[in-house]
Amino acid sequence: MCGIVTAIARRNIVPVLLEGLRKLEYRGYDSAGLAVLKTEGTPQLQRLRAVGRVAELAAQADATGLSAEIGIAHTRWATHGVPSERNAHPHISAGLAVVHNGIIENFEELRSGLQAKGYKFTSETDTEAIAHLLHDKLKSIPDLFDAVRATLAELVGAYAIGVLSETDPNRAIVARKGSPLLLGIGEDGYYAASDTAALLQVTRKVVYLEDGDVAELRLDGYRVTLQDGTPVERAVNISSLSADAVELGKYRHYMQKEIFEQPQALGNTLEMIAGGGGISPQLFGADAVGIFGATRRVLILACGTSYHAGLVARYWIESVAKISCTVEIASEYRYRDSVPDPETLVVVISQSGETADTLAALKFAKSLGMNKTLAICNVPESAIVRETALRFVTRAGPEIGVASTKAFTTQLAALALLTLALAKVNGRLSDEDEAMHLAHLRHLPVAVAKVLELEPEIEGWAQRFASKHHALFLGRGMHYPIALEGALKLKEISYIHAEAYPAGELKHGPLALVDKEMPVIAVAPADSLLEKLKSNLQEVKARGGELYVFADAGSEIPQSEGVHILHMPEHYGLLSPILHVVSLQLLSYHAALVKGTDVDKPRNLAKSVTVE
Ligand code: F6R
Repeated sequence: MCGIVTAIARRNIVPVLLEGLRKLEYRGYDSAGLAVLKTEGTPQLQRLRAVGRVAELAAQADATGLSAEIGIAHTRWATHGVPSERNAHPHISAGLAVVHNGIIENFEELRSGLQAKGYKFTSETDTEAIAHLLHDKLKSIPDLFDAVRATLAELVGAYAIGVLSETDPNRAIVARKGSPLLLGIGEDGYYAASDTAALLQVTRKVVYLEDGDVAELRLDGYRVTLQDGTPVERAVNISSLSADAVELGKYRHYMQKEIFEQPQALGNTLEMIAGGGGISPQLFGADAVGIFGATRRVLILACGTSYHAGLVARYWIESVAKISCTVEIASEYRYRDSVPDPETLVVVISQSGETADTLAALKFAKSLGMNKTLAICNVPESAIVRETALRFVTRAGPEIGVASTKAFTTQLAALALLTLALAKVNGRLSDEDEAMHLAHLRHLPVAVAKVLELEPEIEGWAQRFASKHHALFLGRGMHYPIALEGALKLKEISYIHAEAYPAGELKHGPLALVDKEMPVIAVAPADSLLEKLKSNLQEVKARGGELYVFADAGSEIPQSEGVHILHMPEHYGLLSPILHVVSLQLLSYHAALVKGTDVDKPRNLAKSVTVE
C-alpha cells in the first residue's frame, strides 16, 4: 500500500526520492507525488503529482528541472477518494506539506471541526485533515516538532507521515503508528522510508521506528521521541538486504524471479535443520518448549495466500501432532464472538508482517486472554513479529511481485517445522518419523527445482486456456488449499475468474458450470484420495469439460481427448502441496503473460495491506 520516502541531504535529493518511490512501487499504488523545499531566498514548497506510474512523476521532475536538498515523496493506494491528481499526496495547508500512509478513522470529525474554523478542503482524503490540523496547531505551538506531536495526539487510526514546512525549512518530521517507517543514516544526510529497499541506494544503516515514535531529520543529525516528547534511543542496524535482492536481473518479472528463487528461499528457511540432528522447538523462540507443551489447540489467523498456508498446516498439525487445529480468516475472526481458550496456541501467518487485519486479529486474541502466540513472517522487524511471544522468520528474501509465491512456500516450510516441533514436544513423534520428515524437508529445494523444469509444458497449457473467462480448480485433502491458492493466483494476475472446490463438492453445485468453455485444473497427487478424485474427473469429462491434471509420478491417469496430464517429478508425501503449488504459480504466470496483464502490479491490489 502507500509508500513514503523523505530525504534531507547535501545533494539534490529529487533523484533519491524518485528512485525510492520506484523501489516502493511493488507495494501497490495508483498515483504518486512529491514536495521539496527550495531553500535559496524565501523557502518555498514545490509540489508535483501524477496519476499512474512513478515514471510520469519523474518525467514532470525532469521537465521542470526540479532540484532541492529536502523533500518528501509518496505513492498512494486510494482509500478515501478516487485515484486522481487532486487526491494524490503531498497535501498542502499554507506552506506545510504532508504525506501519509494509513487510515485516519476520525477524519470526518476532524474535517468538520477544521471546516468550521474556515479551512477549505481540496481533496477527499483523510490526509488533508492532518495538514490543516497541523497548520491550526502551529498557531498556538510555534515549534514544528511539538506541533506535529500535538497533531498526532488527536489522530485515531494508523499512520506513517512525513512533514515539511516553509517556516522551518531545515528539518523534516516523520512519525509512525501502525504503518511501517524506518530511518536511513547516509554519508551526506538523513532519510526515511516505508521499507529498506527504498533506501539501499543511499545507505545500509537503518533505524526501525517503533509505534508512537516521532523523529526529526536535519542535515547534521536526527532525534527520536515518543509522541509525548520523551526522548528515546532506537538501535542503528546494518541492513543485510542486498541491492541485488530487489533487482530483476535476468528475469522479465519479479514474480518469475521469485518463483525461480524458491529452491534457494526454501534452503535458507530450512538452514537450521540442514546439518543432521533433530528438530529443535527453540527454532520458534526460547519459550517454545513450555508453550508448545501446554498447547491443546491451535488457532491459525491469516489473510489471502497466508490463510491458504494455514489451511494446509491444519492437515499436518492434526495428522502428525494430533492437535486440533482451526484456521480462520483474520478479518472475520476479529469481529466475531468466539470462545477464548488460554490453552490455544494462536499462530499468525503474514508475509509482510504489516497486514492490518492479521495484526488486529492477533491483538484481539490477546485481549481475550490468549497469550500463547506465534508469528510466522518474512519481515523480522515487522509489527506482527513484535507482538507475539514466539516467532519464526522465513528467509524468503524480499518479495516484490504483488502475488505471493516464495513467501507462501517458505511459510509452508515453517509450518511443517512447527508441526514437527509440536509433535515432538507432545511426545507424538517417533525418532524414526522425525528422521524421515526431516530428510524430506532437507531434500525439498532439490525437489522444487525439478518442478521448475516443467515450465515449458506448463507454458503450453497456459497458452491454451488464457483465452477463457473462467476456470475451476479441484483438489482434495491437503491439496484443496492448493487448489484455492491456484485459483487466487490465476485471478489476481491474469484476471481470469477462477474458483476452487474440494473435488467431492463438484456434484453438489459447481458441476452445472462445466462445459467445454470451462477449463478444469485438477491437483491429483498419488495419495489415498486419488481414486476418489479420478471419479470426480470422470464427472467433468462426461460433461465435455477440458481437464488439465497435475498428477504425480505414481498417479496413473490416462491421457485422452480433453484430458491433459502433466506428471510431477516425484510424489512427495506430506510435503506434496509445496511442490504442487509451484506448478500452479507457473500456470498463472504464463496465463498472465499471454493476456498481457501487469504481472507484478495487478490492478487494484497492494503488496502490503496496511488498511482494513
Ligand atoms: C496473494 C497475496 C495476498 C496476501 C494477503 C496477506 O498473492 O499475496 O493474498 O497473502 O494480502 O498478506 P500477508 O501475508 O503480508 O499478511
